Amino acid sequence: MNVRLAPSILSADFTRLGEQIAAVEAGGADWIHVDVMDGHFVPNLTIGPLIVEAARRATELPLDVHLMIEEPDRWVEAFVAAGASVVTVHVEACRHLHRTVHRIRELGARAGVALNPATPLEAVRGVAADLDLLLVMSVNPGFGGQSFIPASTDKVRRAREVLEEAASTAAVEVDGGVDAGNARELVRAGADVLVAGSAVYGHSDGPGAGVEAIRAALET
Ligand code: DX5
Ligand code: ZN
Repeated sequence: MNVRLAPSILSADFTRLGEQIAAVEAGGADWIHVDVMDGHFVPNLTIGPLIVEAARRATELPLDVHLMIEEPDRWVEAFVAAGASVVTVHVEACRHLHRTVHRIRELGARAGVALNPATPLEAVRGVAADLDLLLVMSVNPGFGGQSFIPASTDKVRRAREVLEEAASTAAVEVDGGVDAGNARELVRAGADVLVAGSAVYGHSDGPGAGVEAIRAALET
């Protein structure tokens, strides 16, 4: 299975971010997921372009930047300049989603769109053909370590159908409460990219082992 694993550095120890990124890379991570929160779209404040720039210096893996912010158009350029490989915006935060998606691509990054658990897939149908990534949130965004919302598995299945109907080659990504226990069923439902924060960085044998445990669960 050609599934990409994207550890979220939200659960990393920021006093040694470089090492924490190197650890998941050594464990077989494919992308590094970076959670950007603005204190408005979600009730938390996290990372800005400065940290993305630092992460860019720490690894050559693609940086998967998840913007949980209002008015993402104001910031897309800065995050691409900082080294984002994929920039994902929330459909709930975009008034002109088609324009935003195309702007991300014009800037040279891959474009993703994320849906909160309560947002129907219908909201992305109009841009499905233009996407590189469709992110199904399996928790309400804002914090790491929340429980997976079970209905998300079926949403992943339907997300895959929406992309197929649009003849889109976009990847389906799942984010929130993903661990070795649910990874396999998510991939079976059609997920291509799995984000995991606490399951990786909270693993008792360290983040490299956290990545390996999810990979092993996919191979059983
Ligand atoms: C949630 C973030 C997630 C989060 C995942 O708002 O978008 O990327 O870091 O963390 P876990 O895997 O702990 O749910
Ligand atoms: Zn995320």
